[in-house]
Formats: sequence, C-alpha cells, structure tokens
Amino acid sequence: MFPMAFIMLFAAILALFLHLLLTKKYSSCSTCSLPPGDLGIPVIGQTFSLIHALRSNTDDQWFRARIKNYGPVSKMSVLGSRTVLLAGPAANHFIFTNESLALTQTRALRALLGRSILTLKGDELKQVRSALQGYLRPDMVRKYVGTMDEEVKRQIKLNWFGRDRVTVLPLARRLTLGIICSVVLGQEAATIVEAHAADFQLLGDAILSFPVNIPFTRFGKGMRSSAKIRKAITRIARKREESLLQDGHAVSSTDFITYMFNLHSKGAHSLTLEDIVDNVMGIIIGAHGTTSALITFMIRHLTIEPDVLAKIIEEQDEIADNKGTEDVLTWEDVSRMKYTWKAAMETLRTVPPVFGSFRTATKDINYQGYHIPKGWKVFAAQSITHLDSRFFKDPTKFDPSRFEKRSSIPPYSFMPFGGGPRMCPGTEFSRVETMVAMHYLVTQFRWKLCYHDETYKKDPKPSPVFGLPVELELRRPPSTDDAWNALYVHSG
Ligand code: HEM
Repeated sequence: MFPMAFIMLFAAILALFLHLLLTKKYSSCSTCSLPPGDLGIPVIGQTFSLIHALRSNTDDQWFRARIKNYGPVSKMSVLGSRTVLLAGPAANHFIFTNESLALTQTRALRALLGRSILTLKGDELKQVRSALQGYLRPDMVRKYVGTMDEEVKRQIKLNWFGRDRVTVLPLARRLTLGIICSVVLGQEAATIVEAHAADFQLLGDAILSFPVNIPFTRFGKGMRSSAKIRKAITRIARKREESLLQDGHAVSSTDFITYMFNLHSKGAHSLTLEDIVDNVMGIIIGAHGTTSALITFMIRHLTIEPDVLAKIIEEQDEIADNKGTEDVLTWEDVSRMKYTWKAAMETLRTVPPVFGSFRTATKDINYQGYHIPKGWKVFAAQSITHLDSRFFKDPTKFDPSRFEKRSSIPPYSFMPFGGGPRMCPGTEFSRVETMVAMHYLVTQFRWKLCYHDETYKKDPKPSPVFGLPVELELRRPPSTDDAWNALYVHSG
C-alpha cells in the first residue's frame, strides 16, 4: 500500500514541479508570449518540409507562406530544435548584433569540422577570429592575387580550353578549391586538391544532414571524408612545424599554417597543431562552396542577360588590352572591375550562396513583444529581404545598376556575407578570386546554356540540377605556348 501512495505522491510533486518550471520558463516577461506558429510533429517538426523546399528551390515561398500566416516573428521546429523565424531588416540587425544570440552550427557541422572557428567559443574564438581577419584583410589578400591568377590560368588550360562543352558547377568548385588551397596550404595544395576534391564535396554535402554516423548516410560519408582530409592536412602541418623548428623559417611564407605557427610563437593564440588543422578545414569549407556558387550563377546570369554581359566584356577587354600576354592581374586591375563586381553582387542578391543564419538564445530574450526562451534557435533567411519589393524594386529582375548607389539600399536588407561580429571574414578574398576568374572566363570564352530551363536546388548551397552544362566557344587564344599545347592535346 505504502509504495503505491508514495509513487502517486512523487508523480504529483513531479507534475507540479514541471508545471511551475515550464510556466516560469515561458512567462519571464509578464506581457510577452511565445511567437505564433506550430511546432509540428515532435523532434521532426518542419525539418523535412524545409529541406524539401530547399531542394526544390521553393524555400523563399516556404518562408513567405509562414510570414503570411503568422507574421514576421513565428515559431517552428527544425533539425530537432525549437526555432523562431524572423523576417525583415530589423530582424537581420537583431540576429547579427544581439549579444545574447550565439552563432549556431548544425550538430553535423560540429562533428565534421571539430574545433574550427565555426564551433569555438569565448577566448579561443576571439583568438582565431582575430588571426583569420588578419590573414584575410585587404592588404594580405593583395599578396594572394598572383597565386589566384596562376591557379585560374592553370585550371582554365587544363579543364576549359579545347572543349566545346563543359559543366560549370564542378569546374567552378575545382577552381575555387584550387585557389583557396593554393593560398592556405602553399606548395602542397595541388596534391591535396587532386587527392581530396571528392572528399571536400562529400564533407560540404553532409553539413545539413542528420548526424547518424553509419556508412551509407550523407553524414557517414562526410565523416569519413573529413577524417581523410584531416589526416592529409595534419601531415602538411607537421612538416611545417618541423621546418620551423629546424631552420627557424618556413618553406612557404603566405600559407595559413605557417602564419598560425608564427602567431603562436608571438603568444597571439593558444591553438594546438590539431586545432590549426581544423581551422584550415573550416576556411576551405567556408571559402570554396560559396564562391563556386557565385561564379556558377554569375555565368548562368550572363548567358541570359546580354546587356550586362556586353558591359562586363567591355570592362574586362579594356583591362586585358592594356596587359602583355604573360602579365598577371594585379590588385589595381581588380580594383578597376567595378561593373563586374556589381553584377556579382546582384548574383549574390538573387541567389545567395548561404541561404540563412542560425543563432541560439543564450538567455531569455524579448523581441518585438514576443518571448524567445533561452536555448531556442533564431533563424533569418537572406531571400526574405533580398527578394522583397519594398527594398529592391522589381526584385526578380537582374539589374547590377541597383548597386550604383549603395546608399539607396536600406541597411540590413542586403546580407550575403552576414553582418556584425561573425560577418564573413572572406568577403575581400571572394571578391578578388571571383573577379580574377571572371576576367579570364569572359575575355577568353563565349558560352551558351545547354538547357535553357535548367532549375536549381539548395543542397544547402544553390546548385543547378544538371550542374550547368554550357557550350563553349573560344574567344581569345590562351596566352602561352603551353596553353596552345594543352589546346592541341584536348582537341587531338
Ligand atoms: C561569395 C562568397 C562567400 C559568401 C556568400 C560567404 C558568406 C558567409 C556568411 C553569410 C557567413 C556568416 C554566417 C552567419 O553569420 O551565420 C560566413 C562566415 C564565414 N565565412 Fe564566408 N562567404 C563567402 C566566402 C568566404 C571565403 C572566400 C572565405 C575564406 C577565405 C570564407 C570564410 C568564412 C568563415 C571562416 C566564416 C565563419 C566566421 C565566423 O564564424 O566567425 N567565406 N560566410
């Protein structure tokens, strides 16, 4: 008898306790309530519906339908987390600058990239962020222009010349992987790219997957690729460390590993060799899927916007005509590519490579009269403001002239690189590599879409469903004898 009474009493106390806990948790602001919206089926919530919308490129309609139903602040549940969806420039400002919101990555990404900038916190995060901002600041990027130029020319000769048809997305991925690896890894870059291009792709594909580590899942494949890449980069890092210890100087001076070891010796951070390797992986992943999406969609836009293409050709031909055939592009040349960069920004507006940003509330927050409980996620999608006619007239029209007067674009409505303290540190790097790549592609080729109605998906980066096959025509010959040899080999 006694045990039953005891169990009932215990259950009643537990129920009362849970009730008090939950009502206290959700009512810290007496006038605020949780945002409207539904959380869907427990754990799963809207995850599959959102992933389906992303993969069918209907995510913008998906977000707008929720905003229409529930307003600019609503709740949902994605990837197992209760999440508040926010819309508008004020929401972007809130997400990117509020100190009680912490950058959030998927569990998959945390497992895939280990202790990189994307997952570190506190002092360690400050140290890595400051090191990375130093490494990617404009006067440093200036030093990488020659490396970028060399890699773009090398890859164009290898993969584009002598072909009458190419598929742009895989070549753009290879190009941006080659560029970022040449800069951050130095002389061993080519070996890594050759051996691990497919692994980088599998790793990137696994970022938005359920973290179930079994062989045939996206996540399982991503984890295996991540381990292979980590092993290869660790080998390079050990070599750099040894050469620094033995000779007191590094073999290659602009690579990120040497840069980080040098900062370590000056006491600027306390990262281990393993942490540095994870950060190299974080930079490569942050850099290559995003910029390749930009280059791919820029090429796509230029095939259907002849007026924009004509202006870009004029700008790029003028730069090419003032250079010798063996000259490399310089920082000054890139600075003259003003119209081309406006077209790139218009591409980033219409097809942002990063579809949105997640944060986690580190304490209870009130936003616009709604209560956001500690631990909930907060999310904003870039398309919500990028494709809103209140901020961009005729928003689906591709019109680079919108960027002629930046002041006419309302603050916090154009956010392809995020904002605030976690804003993308690679903005300048991506601008320069995109301009270098577009210079050679535009001056040397003409292209036509093979499938005019090819759609695209977000997986999570935007990708044309067939990878954007195009017919190629040579416009200007390559600059060197080597290139003519490459042309001969391909066409022979
Ligand atoms: C078109 C190209 C690019 C786009 C659109 C882009 C976009 C973004 C966005 C939106 C974020 C912030 C995400 C958030 O706050 O939730 C971000 C972060 C980041 N990006 Fe980029 N990115 C690009 C190129 C690059 C390049 C070239 C690099 C490196 C060379 C890079 C490295 C990073 C890193 C390391 C972070 C994390 C920063 C942190 O967590 O503090 N990105 N990027």
